Amino acid sequence: MKARGTVRVPGDKSISHRALICASIASGQSRISRILASADVESTARVLRRLGVYIPALSDEVTMEGLGFGGFSEPGLPLDCGNSGTTARILAGVAAASHFTSRFEGDPSLSRRPMRRVAEPLTAMGARFEFERDDGLPMTVYGGDLSGIAWNTRASSAQTKSAILFAGLLAGVSVTVREVRRSRDHTERMLESLGVPLTVSETSVTLNPVAEIDPLSLAIPSDPSSAAYLAALGALADEGEVRLPEVCANPTRIGFLKTLARMGGSVRFVEKRKAGGEETATVVVAPRKLHGIRVGAEEVPAMIDELPLLACVAAASGVNLDVSGAEELRVKESDRIAVVVSNLRAIGAEAEERRDGFRISGGRRPLRGRVATQGDHRIAMAFGVIGWLDGNDIEIDDRDCVSISYPSFWSDIAAVVQ
Ligand code: S3P
Repeated sequence: MKARGTVRVPGDKSISHRALICASIASGQSRISRILASADVESTARVLRRLGVYIPALSDEVTMEGLGFGGFSEPGLPLDCGNSGTTARILAGVAAASHFTSRFEGDPSLSRRPMRRVAEPLTAMGARFEFERDDGLPMTVYGGDLSGIAWNTRASSAQTKSAILFAGLLAGVSVTVREVRRSRDHTERMLESLGVPLTVSETSVTLNPVAEIDPLSLAIPSDPSSAAYLAALGALADEGEVRLPEVCANPTRIGFLKTLARMGGSVRFVEKRKAGGEETATVVVAPRKLHGIRVGAEEVPAMIDELPLLACVAAASGVNLDVSGAEELRVKESDRIAVVVSNLRAIGAEAEERRDGFRISGGRRPLRGRVATQGDHRIAMAFGVIGWLDGNDIEIDDRDCVSISYPSFWSDIAAVVQ
């Protein structure tokens, strides 16, 4: 199979969520271009609209007026977060600092995911949370006056970190978040670019209060987590070259591309630029024989969403892969350790589940069979990529779930396959 062409991958999902939140609380009119119009970002827009913000339909150029801090109004109806953990967790921080009650709901997958990780620090700041079950959604947040906090997170989670930062920002109190390993830092970068004084070190961030933030004027770079699928296809093809312009090259996000290079892949970052506090690059990937590797806990945060893809890349190229320190995968849109391993086995690869990761055993063979995605977009795309390789024949049970993060995935992939 030949993979050749240039694909402008859609805007970054994490940055798109944060851009809508910041634009909603900014003083003045924001302009955001290249926002990702996917189901997850629609969930954030829907919740913000329910809190009283006017957000036009998500298009290539969104212009909206911020309400300033304290401008949200009590939602008369539940806040439906759909499938989006980022929506539920970050906006829990916003709700905690608002003087009203909000009820968060989600689809069955999101309802199973842990929310106490945000409830604990926000409760320590002075908000009150009520759960109907042990953990997860539905969750009711009673917001109010908050006090400052210094919090050590257990799992390295940008959503938890961001919930605390937004709560501190809106409440006008100083907050510090310390992590064992640095999670993606888009919130820090965006807030700094809007005039918020932050002190950032490798694993901690302190936010100091400000009365308002500037509106955004932002072009959102392409999502490296979405670009990863095309990069993988370019690396696994027999010939060709795939070019991916304006990909967000933030070091906390490009772990997969770096790892692909460490496996022997031909991955180049060219046309490097800086914009809106983020770095971008054109990523150029060409086929080359890969070799096996080990991925440990310290490398996991920068490629957490791409680990299912890495497993598929190893299985498709017949090399060994050992991933550990990735227990967070168990609480994503599906239990991604169990789902990756069972599906790899279902299509004829050798894979073994571990408590905190998996092991794929080398040996190239045709991969054939049906993949049960459990509605998880990243599982559909990871297995979707290797289905294109010569000799493989993979059926994905739910192709439409890619709309969560990458609605044009199937057509973008088809555009480079020759
Ligand atoms: C995200 C953070 C990560 C990631 C998710 C998006 C974000 O989750 O898996 O897809 O935008 O902050 P955690 O914060 O749970 O690690």
